Amino acid sequence: MTAMAQTGGVGAPIAIDARARFPQDLLGMTDLMPEQVAEVLDLAAEHKKDRSQFTGSLAGKSVVMLFEKPSLRTRLSFEIGLGQLGAQVVFYDLGGKKLGERESVKDYAKNIERWSDLVVARVFSNAVISEFAEHSSAPVVNALCDLEHPCQALADLLTLREAFGTLKGLKVAYVGDGNNVCHSLMLAAALTGVHLTVVTPRGFQPSYAVISDAMKRAERTGATVRVSEDMSAIRGHAAVYTDAWLSMGQTHQQAIRDGVFEHLRVDEDVMALASEGLDTPARFMHCLPAHRGEEVVDAVIDGPGSLVYEQAENRLHAQVGLVLKLLGLR
Ligand code: CP
Ligand code: NVA
Repeated sequence: MTAMAQTGGVGAPIAIDARARFPQDLLGMTDLMPEQVAEVLDLAAEHKKDRSQFTGSLAGKSVVMLFEKPSLRTRLSFEIGLGQLGAQVVFYDLGGKKLGERESVKDYAKNIERWSDLVVARVFSNAVISEFAEHSSAPVVNALCDLEHPCQALADLLTLREAFGTLKGLKVAYVGDGNNVCHSLMLAAALTGVHLTVVTPRGFQPSYAVISDAMKRAERTGATVRVSEDMSAIRGHAAVYTDAWLSMGQTHQQAIRDGVFEHLRVDEDVMALASEGLDTPARFMHCLPAHRGEEVVDAVIDGPGSLVYEQAENRLHAQVGLVLKLLGLR
């Protein structure tokens, strides 16, 4: 982290200066101002259209990926996307250990900053990635923690913008667990003018801090963020998003979660409900990995309205855009 305080973070004061410097780190969605989200998305779209113009732009840069948890999409999209631009990407699997166990979080940061230009970290605890970033002179990207998954949200915004042409005023529903993916989506919606309706069971709502931060930020962009326990709230929404009912690191909660989410499974009836009153049927979104037959049925995830593989592809483009901005190369 630079000497300058990070502008973002859930609950942090909202910076007024629209020309704020691009942040050093992306720990959560609110590290970015609305204009900076748009810059990342525009760059991502340019990269998707013609990646050849970016060839060599990361030549000579080294990126360390520090992972406490498994990954398919995040790992490969970073390794391939940044590798194609000439970066050396080193994947460091913590092999079941957590940052801070073999040596202190600070010492991880103080070592790794000597060798790398950027750190991409997937950790269990938001407090750990914040502590790491506090000690790291190399920029840090949150590749998922218990609180947020901002790289996913950037790819989701890109996917929505491509599918619907615009973000402002778009109605999106998130159905399921009020988890890390839900949190970043709420904040992303608030930053971009999306109307997001979140439906969760009681006791599994998003964090209160995220709800109130998202609502506060939404006032500035014309977005709305609603949280409900009632599935009828998703009527007339252009996209329905869901995620696992049990996230990585929550296996100890299996028993208390059993049977709680069944009524939120996204099936054809749920998609029909969302589509009510729309000219075209609602689209389906999922960050993946999907637990087919649990939070979503095959007919929906494999159906014509599914955007899931587009979301997966867009991870790569969104992260390239983000990294070029973080490193001040665009
Ligand atoms: N969506 C996502 O982050 O997938 P992985 O866990 O496979 O990286
Ligand atoms: N909420 C899920 C997302 C996986 C990409 C988890 O944290 O396991």
